[in-house]
Amino acid sequence: MRELIVSLVQSINGSYAQDGWSTGVSTKADFAYFTSLRRQAGAIIIDRRTALNPNLPVINGAGKALDHTPVHVLTESDPEVLAAQLAELGLDYRAHHFTPDTVAEVVESVEATSDTLVCESGPNLAYRLLDSYPGAQLHLSLSPRYSRNSGSHFCRLEADIDLCVIDVRTVDDQVFVRYAKA
Ligand SMILES: NC(=O)c1ccc[n+]([C@@H]2O[C@H](COP(=O)([O-])OP(=O)(O)OC[C@H]3O[C@@H](n4cnc5c(N)ncnc54)[C@H](OP(=O)(O)O)[C@@H]3O)[C@@H](O)[C@H]2O)c1
Repeated sequence: MRELIVSLVQSINGSYAQDGWSTGVSTKADFAYFTSLRRQAGAIIIDRRTALNPNLPVINGAGKALDHTPVHVLTESDPEVLAAQLAELGLDYRAHHFTPDTVAEVVESVEATSDTLVCESGPNLAYRLLDSYPGAQLHLSLSPRYSRNSGSHFCRLEADIDLCVIDVRTVDDQVFVRYAKA
């Protein structure tokens, strides 16, 4: 069985993305952790929305560290339509269809250069993988940032505050993080 690491970063007010991508909620330390996971990856798994987002850098673009790493886009929709969209955008990502019943099989069979797969999808596909792939691990990075999102009640606040962690406790799989203003 392969090692499947699902990597997610989340802001302290619950945002997974800002303006459609996760960099806005991330920090320098988070980015360093993210690149350390990428270095281990024999393949990257993403969702359709992440794959087609024109604002995101190409994961395996020529000349980048991952230019020989296969990138797989898992979809419950029509994979041929997705493959055509990826080709039109010039993205060397492979589209695969899955259902909740076949997702473990799909993960097991995709081309990879090592047995560690890293999922960089949003929470929707991350959930599917955690639910269906035995031994999948979630690496959740909690960023000390508030993130503004258009459409939320929070969007008019400038939301810039320096917080530092003063304590972390775990009780029955619940993590309590204490912050104070720096
Ligand atoms: N914080 C992080 O660590 C992190 C990491 C990666 C991505 N993200 C962010 O997470 C978001 C995406 O993940 P999510 O789970 O929150 O999104 P979501 O919209 O809840 O679910 C994504 C799924 O929606 C389906 N979908 C429906 N209509 C679509 C359309 N028009 N275009 C593309 N996909 C469509 C796709 O599934 P089917 O293909 O199966 O239909 C896709 O996989 C993006 O904003 C991305 O920037 C955050």
